[in-house]
Order: sequence, then C-alpha cells, then structure tokens
Amino acid sequence: MIFFRLLLLVLTVSPYIIFAQSSELDKRVDSVLRLMTLEEKVGQLHQLSSDFVATGPITKDGDKQDRVRQGKVGSYLNVTGAARTRSLQEIAMQSRLRIPLLFAQDVIHGYRTIFPIPLAEAASWDIAAMEQTARVAAIEAAASGIHWTFAPMVDIARDPRWGRVMEGAGEDSYLGSRIAAARVKGFQGKGIGSIDAVMACAKHFAAYGAAEGGRDYNTVDMSLRKLYEVYLPPFKAAKEAGVSSFMNSFNDLNGVPATGSSFLQRKLLKGDWTFKGIVVSDWGSIGEMVNHGYATDLKDAALIAMRAGSDIDMESRAYSAHLSQLIKEKKVDTALINDAVKRVLYKKFELGLFDDPYRFSDEKREQAVWNNTTHLQVAREMARKSIVLLKNEVVPAVNKPLLPLNKGDNKKIALVGPLVKAIGDNNGFWSYSWPDDSSRVVSLWQGVTNKLAGATSLTYAKGCDISGADTTGFASARQTATAADLIIVSVGESATMSGEAKSRSQLQLPGVQEQLVKEMVATGKPVVVLISAGRPLVFNWIADNVPAIVYTWWLGTQAGNAIADVLFGDYNPSGKLPITFPRNEGQIPIYYNYLSTGRPFKSDTDNTYVTAYTDLPNSPRYVFGYGLSYTSFQYGAVQLNTNTLSKDQKLQAKITVTNTGKYAGEEVVQLYMQDVVASIVRPVRELKAFEKVLLKPGESREITFTLDARDLSFYNDNLELVAEPGTFHLYIGGNSQATQKASFTLL
Ligand code: GLC
Repeated sequence: MIFFRLLLLVLTVSPYIIFAQSSELDKRVDSVLRLMTLEEKVGQLHQLSSDFVATGPITKDGDKQDRVRQGKVGSYLNVTGAARTRSLQEIAMQSRLRIPLLFAQDVIHGYRTIFPIPLAEAASWDIAAMEQTARVAAIEAAASGIHWTFAPMVDIARDPRWGRVMEGAGEDSYLGSRIAAARVKGFQGKGIGSIDAVMACAKHFAAYGAAEGGRDYNTVDMSLRKLYEVYLPPFKAAKEAGVSSFMNSFNDLNGVPATGSSFLQRKLLKGDWTFKGIVVSDWGSIGEMVNHGYATDLKDAALIAMRAGSDIDMESRAYSAHLSQLIKEKKVDTALINDAVKRVLYKKFELGLFDDPYRFSDEKREQAVWNNTTHLQVAREMARKSIVLLKNEVVPAVNKPLLPLNKGDNKKIALVGPLVKAIGDNNGFWSYSWPDDSSRVVSLWQGVTNKLAGATSLTYAKGCDISGADTTGFASARQTATAADLIIVSVGESATMSGEAKSRSQLQLPGVQEQLVKEMVATGKPVVVLISAGRPLVFNWIADNVPAIVYTWWLGTQAGNAIADVLFGDYNPSGKLPITFPRNEGQIPIYYNYLSTGRPFKSDTDNTYVTAYTDLPNSPRYVFGYGLSYTSFQYGAVQLNTNTLSKDQKLQAKITVTNTGKYAGEEVVQLYMQDVVASIVRPVRELKAFEKVLLKPGESREITFTLDARDLSFYNDNLELVAEPGTFHLYIGGNSQATQKASFTLL
C-alpha cells in the first residue's frame, strides 16, 4: 500500500500547473489508470447524490461514505459548502489511490445570488450579460466547493406545456446557440483549473424539449433532419465553446433512450464532434431503460449504456452493481471502461484536484464571496433586462400610456395580488433558498417601497391565493383598490409550477387570479398587471382589457428592485420574447419559424381552405421576438451590398434605426431570412442575426449585419449542410414579424 501511495505521490506531485498541456495531463491520467483495479475504475463512473437535496428519487442503500472510503464513488451530486465538500474529500483521501471526488450541483441560474430563470435571461437577448451571470454563478459555486455545474440546459422548446421551458433559452436554435456558448464561457471562465471556474454541462442530450404533448420525460419522435436543424445546434455551440461535459436525456429519441443511444453519444458526440469530455447520465436514466422496455434488467442497462457512451451513471447504481461482472464476462470491452475513466480522471487533473483535492473547499474564500454586493448589482441589471413590456396603451383618463409611473405623482398606489409579497417564489425553479432569504430576496412590495421611499402611500391586498377557488379576499381588495389612484396587480404561477415534472395541460392563470384582475378593472381605476411565471401563460381577457401588462417571469434575488426600476422608468424595458405566446393550448405547438404549407395561413380572419383553426385567430397572442419599450423605434430601408451573392462572398445588410420617442431605450434589432425555394421546404422566417443597441431620444444608428453562405445553409435530406442557389428574402425589425425587407439571389 505504501508503495502505491508513494508512486502516486511521485506521479501527481508536479509544479502546480493549472493549465498543463493536455499531453502532460494525458500522461498523468495514464499513470493513475495503470494503478487502478477494475473495482476502482468502476468507482470513478459511479455518481451518488447526497441526501441533503433531492433533485430526483433518492435511494437510501447503506453507508455512502464508506463507499467513498473504498474508492467506489467518483463524483457526488448535491454536496455543497466548503466545509461539507472538504469533509467528504477527506474521506476520499483515505482510499487506496486517493483519487479526489468531483462535486457537482445544478447551478442553473445562480448559486448564492439568484439570477432570473434562464428563459427570462434569454428575453434580454443580451449575450454579454448572460455570460456575466454565469460567470458570477461560477465564482460563488466554486467558492463553495462545487467543481461542476449541470448547466447550461440548452434544450430547444416549442411547447410551453413542458415545465422545463423555464430552464432553457426558448424556441429558436440561433438564439439558443448564442446563449449556450455564452453560458458555457461564463461558467468555465478562464478555463477549467482556474479557482473560480466550474465545469459546465450541456444538457439534455438530446431533444428532451420535444417531448410529445409537452409531457416531461415523454417520447420524442422526429426526423434526423429536424434533429440536426432545430435541436442539435445549441449542443454543437456548447461543444465548440469548450463545454466540459454533456448530460444525456430521459427521453427516447425515435424509440432509443438517449442514455442508450450510441448514435447520439458515440457516433455523433464523441465521433463526428470529437468531444473529449465526460458524458454523465441523467438521474437514474440508465436504470430507467428497463422502464422504457429497452433493457431487460439493471445489468443489461449497464451493458447498453456503457457501450452507447454514457461515461458516468448518476444514481441508478447499474454500473456499480454490474459493470465489473460485465467486464469479467467479456460482455463489455475494457477499452470502453478505460476511455470513460480517463475522461473523468482528465477533468480531475485539469481541475488541479490531484495536486490539491481541497483547493475549492476554502471556507475563508467562501465567506469572502458570500455577500458580494457587486453580484447583487449584476442580478438587478440582468433582471431589469429580462422584463418584457407586453402592452402599454394610452389611457383616456390621463391621455398617455400608464407606464412609466412618476415617483413624484404622490399618487396612492394599491399593490394587489398573491405575488406582491412573494419572497422565495422570485427565485424560480432550480434555485437555492438561504436562511436570510426573507431579508435578501427583494419582493415586489419591498422593491416598490424602496423605490418610493415614502413619497407615495402604498396599500396592499392579497386578494386571493395563487391557486384555489377562494374569493373571500376580493372584498378587501376592492376596498383597497377603490381607495387608491392606481392599481398594480401581481399575478402568475408559483415558482414550483414550472420546472422539472411540472407539465401543465392548461396554461391559464391558476386559481381565481384572472377574476381578481377583472375585479380590479371593474373599479374603473387605472390597472397595471404584472405576470410572473416560468413559461408563457394564457391570459386573453387581461391582454384584451388591461392597458398595461408587464411579463416579469421569475427574476431572482433582486426581482422587486428590478420591477420597480421598470415601473418607475429608471430602466426602460428592452426584453423581447424568446418563445411564442399562444392564444390557447389548442394552438400548441406554435412557433415563428414554421413552414408555409400548400395552403398557407393568410390572416386571422380568413380560414377557408388554409391552415388555420375555425374557432380561433391563427396568429399567436404574442410573437417570438416581441417586446415594447417606453420609447419608439423607426426602421429605415434595408440596404444590401449586392443583390446577387456568390457562395464565397459576404452579404452586408445595413439599416438605420431611429429612437423616435422621448426616452432613451435599447432595441433588439433582429434579422430574419427566408430561403424562398429549396430542396427541403424552408421556414417562412429564420432568425440569423441580432444586435441590441441603446439609442437616445432622436438618435439614429446604422446597423450592419454581415452574413455568408453558412448563414444561408440548411441540412438537406442527406444531412449535408448546404446553401442552395435561389432567391432569399431578408427582414429586419424589432420582432419576428419584421417588415423592412430586401431580397437577393444566391448564385
Ligand atoms: C434531474 C434533471 C437534471 C439534473 C439532474 C441532477 O432529474 O433532469 O437536469 O441535472 O437530475 O439534479
């Protein structure tokens, strides 16, 4: 035993090189691999969750720490904190080869400082800001002993019935790809091994967001062409951004569970894409192949998953129970085990854990990062940018739009609704609650109170609960509202109504909240409605009858301050919807980049022999890319550098945007393309570029977009990425219905 320890010590003691060359790390990995028994190798592929936090069905089966001591666990999920990770690492250091543990955590949109849910962040279209929040999350998580976050979730989702739509970047592959890369770079910072970086994880590979019926974990069935065109690009972008790991998905894809898909994991990811990092299963997904009817038992599941390229088994215990035997029976090739173990060891070396297993478990550093006020400012900025102004019409009584409110009006404002004083809900799903949340998370009530600092009297009535049929609170709400000059109603979902295993068959406001809004409107007072949710909801009556509507998602620690900044004009809302809002569930799936069809939709009123419903306008309630501002923007004509583009030429599209209102404001200038005729029918529009610009009142700015043949390409029937000659229409504007148009021919 001493010999091994000495040998390992020699092998791992080296000048403390954070970013050693990969060939150097390869040598160090091989040196450890040679020392390992089969049991120890299998141990590295076994990931357990602590019992502190359950993000899946917990299995209580004996002394987990003893397994660590025996070198039978390679990584742990849901163990956080410098002290706790240190103590578990100390146990790992008692194992024969002293191979350090990896600590993983779902740091999805912040750790100590919680940022807006990812779908809300996507509404900011501010790529740099999203990279920054991931950066801050990594700094805080790394200071708390976490080496690996299971983020970004990059699943494209076109179905808001699916609760995890809150966790991604919405419906568009281009926007989703840009955001995936930004988040990976944010989490991984200067590189794996730097003390404030964590390994990122692109999940859930693949097409998890296309679950039939929007029902979580459900079947996914689509052509490979659609998979390549719509669902894979964000994963490819994450890989090209250097993501350290992938997580496979619970769903089957065309009848093969992703966890057992060698097409996805070996052929595509590790083969075509030459991915060298770790593939971790989702929680229990290896064992769940028995439920799928794809494996006969846990041993068969272990065989299938290892052959298919799942390196680490999260929580199903298939590998720890059966992999050694499968090797002994020569059913699994040792080379596959060695490849998986090397991927894991490589990351542990890259993180510097062999040189110092405790380098991320530093309580002093944790405390130093813990209440970083700069992080709170980052959170407030991101939250403001994520807010989407859906409606802000002129109100006859005041002959101007209700928003922004004027702090000096000395008006009496009634804050009504079940979410006005919500605290923890502001953090949304996939967040962490802390003992000091009651003082640290800013509610809407607190944010408006902070903003007005007593200048205006504020009154409050809850009115009703988020769910349930109890309307006994309406009377006092009416009384409070009648006595006020203006009513702000805060309604929506609770944080746990969107998220994993939170699919909903209907998307109306839960409970009697819409009735509460009607009561408020019936008072005749001016009403502003704020809607907090993790997904698009259906609120047609409000959309038709309330003059000012603001979508506030779930905005995290600084929610109330950010909403108040927008309500009182200290920030001019700039958010744009990253996902289409349907009029009702019957329209789903509904998305902007649809195919024309042989009898294309013409207008909301003409549904004779066209693709439309007879009982509903065919357009969505709000389109992809939509969002208002307190100011207005005017778009000039599109100027192209050429109307005939050769394949090796670059296309330049210029447009002048002018702020024609009286507030400075940011506009997301969006460029959409249509390939009019092709060998595969192309969407009526596809987002190809965007730029967020800040313009002062009266200011004009010329925006130039540069595109090339790759931007005009699509996957043909042979899954080749091709740009075909022909006519293209290009549209630029402030949402996916942009009207400024130019056309060119690709030669
Ligand atoms: C969950 C989720 C996955 C998460 C994992 C660990 O079931 O599907 O996104 O990272 O388990 O919590």
